[in-house]
Amino acid sequence: MPIVKSKKEEFDNTPPPSDEQFSPQKPKFCFNDLVLSDKTIDEIMDVLSIQQLQNHVFDTWGLIKTHKMQRKIALNFYGEPGTGKTMAAHAVAHYLEKDIIEVNYADIESKYVGDTPKNLTKVFKKAKETNSVLFFDEADAMLSKRVTNMSSSTDTSVNQTRSVLLMLLNDFDGIIVFATNFVSNYDTAFMRRILGHVEFKLPCHTERTKIWHHLLPKELPHNANVDILAEKFGGISGSDISNAILKAVFKAARNNEKIVHHDYFEYAIESIQHSKKMNAKNKGGDEKVEIKTVSREYVESQINI
Ligand SMILES: Nc1ncnc2c1ncn2[C@@H]1O[C@H](COP(=O)(O)OP(=O)(O)O)[C@@H](O)[C@H]1O
Ligand SMILES: [Mg+2]
Repeated sequence: MPIVKSKKEEFDNTPPPSDEQFSPQKPKFCFNDLVLSDKTIDEIMDVLSIQQLQNHVFDTWGLIKTHKMQRKIALNFYGEPGTGKTMAAHAVAHYLEKDIIEVNYADIESKYVGDTPKNLTKVFKKAKETNSVLFFDEADAMLSKRVTNMSSSTDTSVNQTRSVLLMLLNDFDGIIVFATNFVSNYDTAFMRRILGHVEFKLPCHTERTKIWHHLLPKELPHNANVDILAEKFGGISGSDISNAILKAVFKAARNNEKIVHHDYFEYAIESIQHSKKMNAKNKGGDEKVEIKTVSREYVESQINI
């Protein structure tokens, strides 16, 4: 009889993250790979320029006498899944000519409850030593309000982790990027430490056209009419476009087509839209309600409490 492991056993046997997992890597993307609105790019650059212009503003223009020097730079990229937040974090590192340490916060917090503070300390230390950009992906849980009702030991441990994290953030002088899909309840202690909140929206018509062009390789024989695809299929993310291309191309290859016909792309995007709709339904709601994002004004109002 096959030995079936219980969920708990699987959980207990998950090896703790090795130090290797926190090693800095070369960024995988640069800003040229990304299609974003000018406003989004501008908001990111506003924050990044703080680092580059510090000497000029503080020393030459004398703000050192009147203002506290802001060495740490923390950005929060928020918005719907598949809109380019992870890519943008890599692009930030590339732009600053630094390596990036990517940490999936949800993973660390759920799998390694007891070890989380230890792991976080390691991550920050490594980022400091290697002068890397620290990137916390899926940081929703981390940026939301701390647990106030300490009914279980897990809650207590989550709060301890957050206290450690706040301390580490305070002591860190480098660049941190958080990516979140939807944070319902911001913890003001974290929010105060974040200089820029940048919303990643679903691409508009023009941006969709650019993304389609961008993600269709020159070598690919196809007769896709990108104008039609961008016009006809709205409300989709860059990631949906990327997946649709992959799906269409493989289907055409499987059917021994010489070129990928336009219809393959339409079919692929329709099927992706359909499965997203079904998925949202199963979660008990319309997708628009399920994957809610908050406005910049809302985020700012939360910070100023
Ligand atoms: N704005 C964009 N410009 C270009 N490609 C995009 C964009 N958004 C998403 N993509 C495509 O979707 C994939 C997933 O994007 P990702 O950065 O992981 O999204 P997120 O982190 O917001 O969920 C990318 O690798 C890329 O192929
Ligand atoms: Mg991501």
